[in-house]
Amino acid sequence: MRILVTGGAGFIGSNYCRFVLREHPEDEVVNFDKLTYAGNLENLREVEGDGRYSFVRGDICDEKVVEGVMGEVDTVVNFAAETHVDRSIQHAGAFVDTDIKGLYVLLGAARKHDIGRFVHVSTDEVYGSIESGSFKEEDAPSPSSPYAASKAGAELMAKAYERTFGYQILITRGANTYGPYQYPEKVVSLFATNALDDIELPLYGDGMNVRDWLYVDDHCAGIDVVLREGVLGEAYNVGSDQERTNLELTREILKLVGKGEELIKYVKDRPGHDRRYSIDGSKLRALGWQPRVGFEEGMKRTVGWYRENEAWWRRLKDGSYRQYYEEMYANR
Ligand code: NAD
Ligand code: TYD
Repeated sequence: MRILVTGGAGFIGSNYCRFVLREHPEDEVVNFDKLTYAGNLENLREVEGDGRYSFVRGDICDEKVVEGVMGEVDTVVNFAAETHVDRSIQHAGAFVDTDIKGLYVLLGAARKHDIGRFVHVSTDEVYGSIESGSFKEEDAPSPSSPYAASKAGAELMAKAYERTFGYQILITRGANTYGPYQYPEKVVSLFATNALDDIELPLYGDGMNVRDWLYVDDHCAGIDVVLREGVLGEAYNVGSDQERTNLELTREILKLVGKGEELIKYVKDRPGHDRRYSIDGSKLRALGWQPRVGFEEGMKRTVGWYRENEAWWRRLKDGSYRQYYEEMYANR
């Protein structure tokens, strides 16, 4: 296969490019990325000399450029998105553009070029919060944040393309993902790097919100199984069954870094903060996938990676990110 990986310079996308080149020697990867603040070609240094890998800089909202690149591939995995909930609360425009319009543009070009297998990477956040039990794929979307609403909107557009034009794709809805190369704005990479620097960890609200923690290699493997084995037109949850409160997560990170709980700073809650995410992952498990890395092992690997790759995250935290960080946490 010649796979168009959009957003391949971001966190999960770059891990996925490496995953495909490692696991499937017969496949080629075309990484198509706009290189926003979250895109970083440094994430792909390991594979840039691989003859099966190439990079094209472009915006998934740009019909002309997308049209050109779509003619050169036979498969698509769409990771490209604006992804941070807090940023979507501040400015939702880029989320509507990339997450909704971007998929619309990709769908149009993919349909025209008869792309047979197209995976759209969505999120468990489209379901919204659940007090007990777990969401199944047929449950209705009920997004809370502008980010989640944009991801849900994209999914509805994909459904419309199926019903209107008979063009079917595959959708994955992954849980909260963590691991190497995650931009240090998401909670695990932010807290690990703050703790290494003896900076406070801003824990929202009472710290009792629950997330299911999925190691990035497991997420990549889940997406890959859907790409190769999934039934067209279907959605698949990619869950880890590793639910933790944010306080438990914070304590684990502090323990691994070797710092004390005095670094925890309870701050004003995020508006519309979903209390608990939980998805039933049995549909994907029936295709033979299962998560291999548990919470403790995954956190150990992740904190170890940030410890050993200080230069990578320090460059991000020193630059434009600093202004964002100061604004974000100024009044909390
Ligand atoms: P990320 O923010 O690290 O990376 C996003 C990438 O998309 C960046 O490389 C960026 O440059 C690129 N991009 C942004 N706008 C673009 C555009 N208009 N055209 C082309 N490229 C563009 O994101 P991530 O955490 O790796 O998430 C990847 C995907 O997985 C997203 O679709 C996200 O919704 C989904 N997801 C993420 C998680 C998570 O916990 N991180 C969980 C479930 C699903
Ligand atoms: P985040 O990594 O932003 O992912 P998402 O909002 O997509 O789940 O946040 C994960 C959890 O951590 C969420 O409940 C919000 C919380 N959180 C904090 O307590 N402090 C922070 O500084 C951040 C970024 C998140």
